[in-house]
Amino acid sequence: MTLHEILADANTTLGAVTSLPELEQAKAKFLGKTGSLTEQLKALGKLPPEEKKEAGAAINAVKGQVEALINAAKARILDAELNAKLAAEAIDVTLPGRSIGLGGLHPVSRAQERIEALFATMGFSVADGPEIENDYFNFTALNTPENHPARSMHDTFYVEGSKNLLRTHTSPVQIRYMQSHKPPIRIICPGRVYRCDHDATHSPMFHQLEGLWVEEGISLADLKGTLTQFLNAYFERDDMHIRFRPSYFPFVEPGVEVDMEWENKGGKIKWLEIGGAGVVHPQVLRNGGIDPEKYSGFAFGMGLDRLAMLKYGVNDLRLFFENDLKFLSQFR
Ligand code: FA5
Repeated sequence: MTLHEILADANTTLGAVTSLPELEQAKAKFLGKTGSLTEQLKALGKLPPEEKKEAGAAINAVKGQVEALINAAKARILDAELNAKLAAEAIDVTLPGRSIGLGGLHPVSRAQERIEALFATMGFSVADGPEIENDYFNFTALNTPENHPARSMHDTFYVEGSKNLLRTHTSPVQIRYMQSHKPPIRIICPGRVYRCDHDATHSPMFHQLEGLWVEEGISLADLKGTLTQFLNAYFERDDMHIRFRPSYFPFVEPGVEVDMEWENKGGKIKWLEIGGAGVVHPQVLRNGGIDPEKYSGFAFGMGLDRLAMLKYGVNDLRLFFENDLKFLSQFR
């Protein structure tokens, strides 16, 4: 093969390689142990000295060109590999992103926030009390001394070996608040309470909404007005009716159950119980450090979960506490 032919061959061969192993093979074909250019160099030794210099220079010139072809082929292959990789790993910026699971407020918290806002417009502030309560605030100060039969109406979780218990209602906040504040008092207290109950409308943990208004001249009429105004706003209507049914709670006198008129899905009107209420018992005012000769007040305790059930059309209270995201995400 002449140098000219070798160069032509190198041009075609190296121009056609597409991978590094192919390039290695092509390189060996020209510059390997038995490569065509190596053979030429070997043959150089047999030439007469006067021809060696010129022939050597010609071979080296071709060798330089072949090496340049090899480098160009290598650069081309690496470039092509990089482009293929970039294309394969390309990010499609037009694809919709992976969504982050968004949480939302629990329906009972949602109802609670709304109720707090509505009562705030009537001048009520929000008070709080401990969920692990002592016997005195939960019962005794609320006119329910030890062995009083009314204690058995609340199936209570006692904390073993102490006078502490999981509060059975939010009414102990009445005493705590009266002991630390002077009238006029106008508070609501939403919160968790605990009883040994479990069925579609009763849960061992549920929420109550306590209300207390103590001022001069407050009566049952104010209770009726306040609750009617609240229910109208909460259910976004202007025709809510409530009725008082005489009932007994040791901490109020008179005591009532509050029912509200409710149209069910079939259009039938029913009375639904929403809570207990009454005029604060004089002894309870005294226990709170308030003079019953001067002040009077009303108190109520409603089932917050029941209000949420009515608002959102949920018919089983237990659904609220099963943490089923399919159910809960409907309220987001
Ligand atoms: C009381 O707990 C009184 N403290 C209410 C009260 C306050 C009366 C102030 C007078 C003055 P009662 O046990 O009826 O009352 O409970 C009040 C409301 O809580 C009930 O009407 C009902 O809506 C709700 N409730 C009671 N038990 C459960 C339960 N296990 N699960 C869900 N809601 C309940």
